[in-house]
Amino acid sequence: MAKKTHFICFCLFLSLAISSLMQVVMAEAHEVGGLKLFVFGDSYADTGNCPKSMAGSWKEPYGITFPGRPAGRFSDGLVLTDYIASFLGIPSPLPYQWRKFGKKLRPFGMNFAYGGTGVFNTLVKEPNMTCQVNFFQQLIEEKVYTKHDLTSSIALVSVGGNDYATYMASNGSQQVSG
Ligand SMILES: *[C@@H]1O[C@H](CO)[C@@H](O)[C@H](O)[C@H]1NC(C)=O
Ligand SMILES: *[C@@H]1O[C@H](CO)[C@@H](O)[C@H](O)[C@H]1NC(C)=O
Repeated sequence: MAKKTHFICFCLFLSLAISSLMQVVMAEAHEVGGLKLFVFGDSYADTGNCPKSMAGSWKEPYGITFPGRPAGRFSDGLVLTDYIASFLGIPSPLPYQWRKFGKKLRPFGMNFAYGGTGVFNTLVKEPNMTCQVNFFQQLIEEKVYTKHDLTSSIALVSVGGNDYATYMASNGSQQVSG
């Protein structure tokens, strides 16, 4: 019984600590002009960067729960990016590929994640982590985002396993016999 109470107290303390930390981060972000979320990685985070002509994410059953039709997410509903953005109280950041059409969403950050990618090159042709970071750097050089913006930014990096999958696909037999 006592142990259980301690555990509950600890959890309560932890959630209070996290929520007050978030409040500090969000209050500071508010002062310097809006919290931004920048996202890098793979299909756990991609919200529509992979091209329609190439990716299964634009076909059913993806998207049937949200937004109701396939729209570039590798999920029938929301992905990690959407949940983190909603936790921060901002709209899901604009996919990099749509940057010219969705200017209104730019103030909330941008999503550079491409499904199927990894830190190294994988079996898909989409930009790896280095390229994604370079896209972001380019936008900073073009002053789409300022260095000042970065003080109110959060980065989400998702590396779910495509690097491992690529290794297994090319060197899998070696792995099994080893
Ligand atoms: C990432 O992609 C670029 C462009 O294709 C390539 O030059 C670079 O070597 C890749 N980086 C890694 C770590 O594989
Ligand atoms: C597979 O093994 C070869 C030989 O050891 C190596 O050169 C190659 O980089 C490996 N492939 C991957 C994707 O790691």
